[in-house]
Amino acid sequence: MGDVEEELEKLRAEIEKCRRCSLHKGRTKPVLGEGPAPAEIMLVGEAPGYWEDQQGKPFVGAAGRFLNELLALAGLKRSQVYITNVVKCRPPKNRDPKPEEEEACAPYLERQLSLLKPRLICTLGSHATARILSFFGLKPQPITKIHGKVFKAQSLLGGILIVPLFHPASALYKPPMKSLQFEDWKTVGRLLSET
Ligand code: URA
Repeated sequence: MGDVEEELEKLRAEIEKCRRCSLHKGRTKPVLGEGPAPAEIMLVGEAPGYWEDQQGKPFVGAAGRFLNELLALAGLKRSQVYITNVVKCRPPKNRDPKPEEEEACAPYLERQLSLLKPRLICTLGSHATARILSFFGLKPQPITKIHGKVFKAQSLLGGILIVPLFHPASALYKPPMKSLQFEDWKTVGRLLSET
């Protein structure tokens, strides 16, 4: 196991014991994330849902199956990207995470960023977009305005690209969102072929 993988395993052990917010009370398994470590490409979603909470893995339910299709449009396999969420425990009835829950969980996401050192981060949905843009000193803007755009940021880790994307689940309850998401993921594919 490499150093980064070892550090991620320590983080996994920490979140298994985490009680920083009340979400720990309802969790079956916390979801740290999965994928290559270090990772060139990182995807950040919102929070685990029912199946993720059962299995301890990100995006394994219906939204995850659609995400696999979207990744393929960008020429990517799931095994090539590291996937995590803003909060690591499932909110009750899949409600949105509260600001204080996101705040409590932020140090875990920040440690993942510094360990994985991604060159590209795709944010999935408004929560991840706001958090990642502000983490890198960029102004958060509505996802409806900035989806599919490429943002460049500088960090202690060097230059990084951020592409805000709609959350894949939005197309499951609003089918017209599918074609918008297809276009955005093709943009990600073009970006990858240029860089
Ligand atoms: N939705 C998310 O935001 N994350 C998951 O892991 C699953 C569904």
